[in-house]
Amino acid sequence: MNDNTVIISEIKRLLGGRQPLAYVRSFGCQLNTSDGEKIKGLLRKMGYGFTEDEAQADLIILNTCAVRENAEDRVFGIVGSMKKLKELRPDLIIGIAGCMTAQSHIAEKIKKSYPQVDFVLGTSAINGLPRLLLDCLNGAKFSADIAEYDDFSAQAEQVRESSFKASVPIMFGCNNFCTYCIVPYVRGRERSRRPEDIISEVEGLVRDGYKEIMLLGQNVNSYGNDLGGEMSFPQLLRRLNAIEGDFWIRFMSSHPKDASAELIDAIFECDKVAKHLHLPVQSGSDGVLRRMNRRYTAEKYLGIVDEIRRRDPDFSLTTDIIVGFPDETEEDFEATLAIMERVRYDNIYSFIYSRRTGTKAAEMPDAVSEEEKGARMRRLLELQREISTEHYKRFIGRRMRVLVDDVSKKREGYVSGKSSEFIIVELEGDSSLIGQFVDVEITEAMNWAVRGRRV
Ligand code: SAH
Ligand code: SF4
Ligand code: F3S
Repeated sequence: MNDNTVIISEIKRLLGGRQPLAYVRSFGCQLNTSDGEKIKGLLRKMGYGFTEDEAQADLIILNTCAVRENAEDRVFGIVGSMKKLKELRPDLIIGIAGCMTAQSHIAEKIKKSYPQVDFVLGTSAINGLPRLLLDCLNGAKFSADIAEYDDFSAQAEQVRESSFKASVPIMFGCNNFCTYCIVPYVRGRERSRRPEDIISEVEGLVRDGYKEIMLLGQNVNSYGNDLGGEMSFPQLLRRLNAIEGDFWIRFMSSHPKDASAELIDAIFECDKVAKHLHLPVQSGSDGVLRRMNRRYTAEKYLGIVDEIRRRDPDFSLTTDIIVGFPDETEEDFEATLAIMERVRYDNIYSFIYSRRTGTKAAEMPDAVSEEEKGARMRRLLELQREISTEHYKRFIGRRMRVLVDDVSKKREGYVSGKSSEFIIVELEGDSSLIGQFVDVEITEAMNWAVRGRRV
């Protein structure tokens, strides 16, 4: 535990009743966004207000992602451009948080080449933020805290981005070491939050009117493995499903190697659990899956899909796919296309493989050219477009329950939201519907969404 009370009152004293403004920007996955909300929670406690305009900010925090090289390049670009801001306003404090900070070569690079950065805050050190800020306000040149506090207390104080959709991390870290992936190195080993803390947080959110609870973890299926059999993920789902109220439960991500029969039972038996599963396949080739250390075969994966579709032939599945893993052959790639045709995903999130220093795959030879990888990516996207266009037609004539989340940017007089199946639905309406459940009869299918009318 680290007690911030004294430090926070010292900061307030230094600020002398003034309300400085903070600009906090999160990159990467929803877990990082959730950390960003915790950072904001701490800042609010210290007396900060918030701005979306970095030129107005007294404090800038970039909460970074390291999963692919282009994510890191973007951050370096932004930090580079902040040199000017800092020259204009030497009092400006700039901090880098998130997954990039956990790689020593990146932390070194920031320290050496970006003197405009005042502090670095590690992914497990969010509670160390007040201390770092106090150092900066006292004139320290550069400070860093990348310790692991293993303290989930900042959870309670977050400034949430939405008033009807909430992310609830249930565990941190990852033990899987997929050979391409940096996450286990930057987020550490799996740590599950206490079930009673998760339950009371969700109860509070439902009381506050939240309509969608997104349970987050790098592999939610291994929730509880470190709790000595006290609670598994399917049990947690059932426990949360029993909370009274009108809300949906979603979760991300599920590793196929741990997607059990109990999990599938829980999805079908819990009325509040959304009827959608994000099940990252990464590749359809057993050779590539082995070299990725995914610990399942295409056949095992399809077994899970078949069990789900046996219960509901139209069940909605989405996935992540990596194109161009080291030495991926044309045959390997075609196996990926084949699994896409077989599963018929409603949506895929596809990425060209990015070499991450420190991971096993970074050492693997790779004879495939960038042009070839780009060409494969285009083929994959084209196939998915065809599949979505065809597959979305199954919703025409059906009723879908939709949580409206925004006015449509594509069509005036329309709003859009997501159905339980995680499909984007457009319907006529105005901003008064935002944050509400509505029933929609689907009349039209596109390749990225469906459209319908309220019933
Ligand atoms: N824990 C989650 C994924 C976290 S990262 C899971 O296992 O499903 C999200 C996605 O980024 C991964 O599923 C993978 O498809 C992609 N990804 C991870 N590392 C990558 C890399 N080095 N290059 C390209 N894509 C990568
Ligand atoms: Fe990365 Fe694999 Fe862990 Fe997902 S399960 S975070 S892809 S190592
Ligand atoms: Fe990126 Fe870190 Fe998430 S590397 S994907 S922000 S866990």
